[in-house]
Amino acid sequence: MSDESQLEARLEAQDEFEPPASFVEQANVTDEAIRERFEEEWPECWEAAAELLEWREGYDQVLDDSNPPFYEWFTGGELNASENCLDRHLADRGDEPAIEWVGEPPSEDNRTYTYAELHREVNEFAAALRDLGVEEDDVVTMYMPMIPELPVAMLACARIGAPHSVVFAGFSADALATRMESADSEYLVTANGYYRRGDPLDHFEKTRDGLDSVGHEVSDVVVVDRLGDDGFDHDRRENEHDYDALVADHEGAEVEPVARDAEDMLFLMYTSGTTGQPKGVKHTTGGYLSWVTWTSHAVLDVKPEDTYFCSADIGWITGHSYIVYGPLALGTTTMMYEGTPDYPDNDRLWEIVEDYDATQLYTAPTAIRAFMKWGEQYPEAHDLSSLRLLGTVGEPINPRAWKWYYKHVGNEECPVVDTWWQTETGGMMVTTLPGVDTMKPGSAGPPLPGVDARVVDAAGEEVNAGDAGYLTVQNPWPGMLRTLYQNDERFVQEYWAEYSDTDSDDSGDWVYFPEDGAKLDEDGYITVLGRVDDVLNVSGHRLGTMEIESAIVDVEGVAEAAVVGGDHEVKGEAVYAYVITEDGYDGGDDLRDRIVASVEDAIGPIARPESVVFTPELPKTRSGKIMRRLLEDIANGDDLGDTSTLRNPGVVDDIQAKVGGD
Ligand code: PRX
Repeated sequence: MSDESQLEARLEAQDEFEPPASFVEQANVTDEAIRERFEEEWPECWEAAAELLEWREGYDQVLDDSNPPFYEWFTGGELNASENCLDRHLADRGDEPAIEWVGEPPSEDNRTYTYAELHREVNEFAAALRDLGVEEDDVVTMYMPMIPELPVAMLACARIGAPHSVVFAGFSADALATRMESADSEYLVTANGYYRRGDPLDHFEKTRDGLDSVGHEVSDVVVVDRLGDDGFDHDRRENEHDYDALVADHEGAEVEPVARDAEDMLFLMYTSGTTGQPKGVKHTTGGYLSWVTWTSHAVLDVKPEDTYFCSADIGWITGHSYIVYGPLALGTTTMMYEGTPDYPDNDRLWEIVEDYDATQLYTAPTAIRAFMKWGEQYPEAHDLSSLRLLGTVGEPINPRAWKWYYKHVGNEECPVVDTWWQTETGGMMVTTLPGVDTMKPGSAGPPLPGVDARVVDAAGEEVNAGDAGYLTVQNPWPGMLRTLYQNDERFVQEYWAEYSDTDSDDSGDWVYFPEDGAKLDEDGYITVLGRVDDVLNVSGHRLGTMEIESAIVDVEGVAEAAVVGGDHEVKGEAVYAYVITEDGYDGGDDLRDRIVASVEDAIGPIARPESVVFTPELPKTRSGKIMRRLLEDIANGDDLGDTSTLRNPGVVDDIQAKVGGD
């Protein structure tokens, strides 16, 4: 055996990894007793998170649990997120880079914003927003690609106490309109376009389409000119303003950061659930900011002198928490990359890591699976020795991908943190602490200190080691969502269960259900298995099956549709649509194209069905419920087991034949 293959074989067989000594030596958190300590001191342990921030007014109480599950954290405290991310770093770090931005075109003049420069532009834009009429508590929507003006706009809103609602730029015009309507948002910040795989993309046209279908009046729209000479021609309407002109008009303006109550809303983030209507997750100023700052410190090991690189999009929660708020609150340098990892070649991320001496890389398993497929020659062609820590988020990572990442990107010298969390949790919840815990590839790890995550059965009882069940969180945490925007009832209904008899501590009997299945091992490590509701995870993007189904049944000629997730080598899950046509319509290419177009219009290209299967019937139980599990098994070519209890067992063979022939 060659040295190389001996090494591979050893790695293959190894299922536990200790944190590298060189990492532990310098880690932010190395206290082996931290979990016991936090448990004993709960909830006061979370003062450690609040202490990482600067407060205008100290809080009176760490946790107010008088009205569960409407918990409140750091009550009575006042602070401003923009001040915490900018002003307080000016004295020591004013001339250090806050944001290193890399545009997709390789010839791009990449931009560096020092803390002083970022502070200046945030102030100018905050002044501009105020002049447009934005007041405290007005929701400002952002529909922007990965350009520095996005975090500028977010921080400008935070500065004047206007919550932001960022809509992922890859979402469709309809998705933008729905979210603006749901949030009663009258202001929008957008861009004329961005680059994708070398081509300029007209984002403004999509924005216009969206704006035209918002049911209320949108008072002002700010447009960033990202494309310059590559821009597309659009006449400007009176309420559409040029970002650069607004900022120039407010040159040198200073806006005093508004003192916000700890429980005041910092932002809304829409995410998919089991119904067709996206949920507006509300995050607060004190609890959320403490949570993302503490977890950036403890898990991502962020230090001010780092150059930290998270390759997510700010349009999703990962980018909010771990590109913008957590890293900037700690005064570090955070990287932003506009484009895709395979442009102009498959080594783009490695080139960025090398050029900027990135110290951490936080990415999604779907990206790692793509890297693996492309081959180790890409990372190996670059000097990645600046990396100190690797992280993953968004979906389960299989041990093979974990080990590939550990070896070929981390050179076996970087701990890998597999962080489980959700839009709703605000930040990380289950993960190893990189300076403390043994890593087990494929398993996220134990809950974070102070987080009481447990795996339970259908009756709410904890499962034994080796068993699977539902993941739950049994005590509140500062970063938790406070409610669903203007829908307290749905918030309680969707996430919480009340148990009258519990032997847990006195934090109450309310248990949070993230809707994930999980498995527990003998060391208390949690392996997250995936969603147990009708939510798909396509390339780490969360999509509701109902949203996709309703876009499909909107198509003329479609009578009924069922959408499920099928396994996919790179995406994790792919969208499979089973469609019954109306009488007189053929399930042919034309209808298929119209279905795909409708899904793209309603949600965006990320939800595009991988496969559309026309079928005369859907498998249903005797009570008429669609058997989704069965459709998933068919998509995956799995053994179907007993199908005799179906109302229409014959349909299974028909569908299988079609999927097979696809
Ligand atoms: O199913 C879990 C999966 O992603 C879901 C949350 O999606 P979203 O709100 O879009 O947030 C993604 C970024 C935090 C979860 O319910 N998930 C997230 N992280 C992991 C994961 N599944 C397994 N392992 C993870 N580390």
